[in-house]
Amino acid sequence: QAVPGLQIAIDGPSGSGKGTVAKMLAGEVGLPVLDTGLLYRLIGGLALERDIALDDSEALAALVDEMLEQVAWTVNGIAFGGENWTDRLRSEAVGAAASTVAAQQQVRDKLLGLQRKIAESGCIMDGRDVGTVVLPQAQAKFFLNASVRERARRRWAQLKDQGGSSLEAVIEELKMRDQRDRERQHAPLRQAEDGIAIDSTTMRVDDVVDRMLGVLARRGLIT
Ligand code: DC
Repeated sequence: QAVPGLQIAIDGPSGSGKGTVAKMLAGEVGLPVLDTGLLYRLIGGLALERDIALDDSEALAALVDEMLEQVAWTVNGIAFGGENWTDRLRSEAVGAAASTVAAQQQVRDKLLGLQRKIAESGCIMDGRDVGTVVLPQAQAKFFLNASVRERARRRWAQLKDQGGSSLEAVIEELKMRDQRDRERQHAPLRQAEDGIAIDSTTMRVDDVVDRMLGVLARRGLIT
C-alpha cells in the first residue's frame, strides 16, 4: 500500500510499456493512474475530427479550453462531453497528431494545471515530461525505455489484429514520433536527473513492476 499522497512518475518513449506497467503498479500499490498521453491524444483526435490544422495555435488553444471544460477521468480512461473517447484515441493517426499538437507550448501550459490537480491526492502518472515538468516533486520517477525495434514490434503486434501496417512501417513511424518528442523545444522527452532508468527490451512486464516495487519499498514509500 502506498503512503498517503504518493506521486509516481513514469516517463518514456512510445511503446516502452509505460501504460501497462503503470496499470499493474497501480493495482499493487492502490493508486489511481493517469495516462497523460490521453490528454494530448484527445486534443489531436478532436483536431483531426474537426479539420483543425495541427499548427494553428489559436484554434488549438480554443480547442484545449473547450476540452478542459468537458473532459472527465474515469477508471476506464478519458471521457469528453459525456462519451468515453479512450478506444478511438488509440490509433496511430491520433498518436501522430497528439505528438504534433504536444509540441505547442500553449497546449502544454494549459494542460499543466489539470494534471497537477489530478495528482494532488496521489497517483501514478505516465507520459513524457511527468518527472521533469508536471510533477518535479514526485517521490519516485522512472524512465522506461526499450530498443526501437522492440517497441515497434510490441505496437505492431497490437495493431496487427486491426489489419494494420507492416513492422517496417511501424518502425519508421515510431522513429519519427521519438524524434519529435525528444527534440521539441518545450518539455521534451528526457530522463529526470533523479530518475531511475529501466530498459525493458528483454524484460518481462512483471519483472519491470517488481523492480519498481523494490525501489518504492527501499524508500519507505509503500508498506
Ligand atoms: O504516450 P502516448 O503515445 O499516448 O502519447 C501520445 C503523444 O502525446 C506523444 O507522442 C507525445 C505527447 N505527450 C506529451 O507530449 N507529453 C506527455 N506527458 C504525454 C504525451
